[in-house]
Amino acid sequence: MTDVQSILDRIGEAMQATKDRGTVAQYIPPLARVDPAQFGMAVAFSDGRLFSTGDAETRFSIQSISKVFTLSLALGRLGDAFWSKVGREPSGQAFNSILQLEHEAGRPRNPFINAGAIATTDAAMAHHAPRDFLAELVQFVRAAAGDEDIHIDAAVAQSEQATGDLNRSLAYFMASHQRLQNPVEQVLGAYFHQCALSMTCVQLARAGLMLTGAPGAPRLMSPARRTRINALMMLCGHYDASGDFAFRVGLPGKSGVGGGILIVAPGKASIAVWSPGLNAQGNSKLGTEAAEMFAQATGWSVFS
Ligand code: DON
Repeated sequence: MTDVQSILDRIGEAMQATKDRGTVAQYIPPLARVDPAQFGMAVAFSDGRLFSTGDAETRFSIQSISKVFTLSLALGRLGDAFWSKVGREPSGQAFNSILQLEHEAGRPRNPFINAGAIATTDAAMAHHAPRDFLAELVQFVRAAAGDEDIHIDAAVAQSEQATGDLNRSLAYFMASHQRLQNPVEQVLGAYFHQCALSMTCVQLARAGLMLTGAPGAPRLMSPARRTRINALMMLCGHYDASGDFAFRVGLPGKSGVGGGILIVAPGKASIAVWSPGLNAQGNSKLGTEAAEMFAQATGWSVFS
């Protein structure tokens, strides 16, 4: 039996000693103020066991990790018809790139780049008001985590609204190609708020259990849908660093610009890691290093 706690203790010590912690996201002011010295990690099993190290009970902005939850809702709503709206290919571009949208008539490459995530939010909203969509999303995440104390940070959402001109450009470009069904500003409002969900590593690891398919894990979607979301996380979850994450970690993962990463070990466990400093591709620097150490120590890579 893998001694998960001693692996986490070792990772926690190594991360504490690491000097280069990356750079916290600058373009959303409340994220720019987060202390980069923090590091937390949690591993949840479907039988209720939970292991953690460091700042695993500190709330952080999950940002793009929320795209996994919204995708789950959009697929639940539309089924396979969803794929007429959004592709499922890696983009090889930065998370907020607008380049491919023009080449591909406003149809985003995948649900995890910002353009694709905005289109996914639009699909999940399905003509409901942003507040109704957000209430459903928060309920879904709480049900997955088995924890009612999960909320949206209104100040972060407000700040994204104020600084979100690039996302606005992506959304209006897609709207010009008739890719959105709800009013653009409503879709953006919903998207900014979903990204502002605030969770701890412990909550996030528990919420990810639904994607493991481990015996006894919450069953909030069909096995086929879970398998496909894992495939997308592996291929697109880290944008133009998805290949690097697959190479180093070998597990499906979804990063957020708040420094969190949700990682799924199919059939085994759900892992959440957080450290606010980012690498050049906008993914958590220490989070990626910790995930790599963890995968090596456990041998849990899906390729092993
Ligand atoms: O739309 C944005 O720019 C942010 N709300 C989310 C970006 C993000 O988390 C990218 N992931 N690493």
